[in-house]
Amino acid sequence: CSLDAAFKAHGKKYIGVAADQGTLSNAVNAQIIKDNFGQVTPENSMKWDATEAVEGQFTLAGADALVKFAEDNTKLVRGHTTVWHSQLPTWVSSITDKTKLQEVMVAHIKKLVGTYTGKNVYAWDVVNEIFQEDGSFRSSVFYNVLGEDFVALAFSTARAANPAAKLYINDYNLDSPSYAKTKAMAANVKKWVAAGVPIDGIGSQSHLGGSWPIADFPAALKSLCDVVSECAITELDIKGAAAADYKTAVMACVDVENCVGVTVWGVGDADSWRKSENPLLFDGKYMAKDAYNELCSALA
Ligand code: G3I
Repeated sequence: CSLDAAFKAHGKKYIGVAADQGTLSNAVNAQIIKDNFGQVTPENSMKWDATEAVEGQFTLAGADALVKFAEDNTKLVRGHTTVWHSQLPTWVSSITDKTKLQEVMVAHIKKLVGTYTGKNVYAWDVVNEIFQEDGSFRSSVFYNVLGEDFVALAFSTARAANPAAKLYINDYNLDSPSYAKTKAMAANVKKWVAAGVPIDGIGSQSHLGGSWPIADFPAALKSLCDVVSECAITELDIKGAAAADYKTAVMACVDVENCVGVTVWGVGDADSWRKSENPLLFDGKYMAKDAYNELCSALA
């Protein structure tokens, strides 16, 4: 089947996948993306270390390649990610002056987001992984120096740089409705949206098969989608790739009206960040697994 076409028949915008130059240069992998997915997320090429390793010097070749592939093949792009504590150069993480950090963050977002304005960028993950497991704010240079106001500044800067893109806050371990981090995400987004922060969506990364029963996932997703205009599953992979669990996750998005799309975090197991867990829809030789076939049936 075409997963993307089957999913769109349910009124959704896309099923996508993480990619970058390395995996796109593999013809088998690229063909699977062309046939099955309607959206791509750069797995690493738009992160701060890849795009601005030296202050003011932007290296966008990898990001450009991903966006070009998407344009050539009529796929949407989810930009990932402007403000994240990880894959962050030390010239940023060592800043202690408030004004300097604000300037640096604003310049980074303006350039990165602005470069792809007018292209097929559907959404941006503006801030990524800003909560700790207990629901408090993660200690990062952004939070430690600027306080939680960095969130409002990041979103308003992104909105100005690309008024057409949907702006997302994205995080992991949001997989049970009663979990502190899930509740903190929902409560804070509700608060920020009410205060006028231009947040359009919550992204639930959904790296599944860990601490929570899959049965909790649909209610967790719904609790996030309830507080914001739209939501998405942004980095789906599941330990062991159990077909039933993939179905539960994808159908959870189908069943929530404002869940717009699902992105799987890679095509084949050999290229996965958790490859020892064989978490993807295609195996190490890019052969479709049961999870893929059963998703096709479930969506048909
Ligand atoms: O680019 C260097 C290369 O120059 C060097 O030779 C090589 C040696 O290890 O490392 C390369 O960097 C690696 C990078 O991926 C690009 O391939 C890093 O070591 C490696 O840590 C990095 O992993 C990525 C990880 O984010 C970093 O945190 C994964 O590919 C990527 O799948 C993963 O994605 C994240 C999302 O962005 C956010 N949510 C969690 C998710 C999984 O960790």
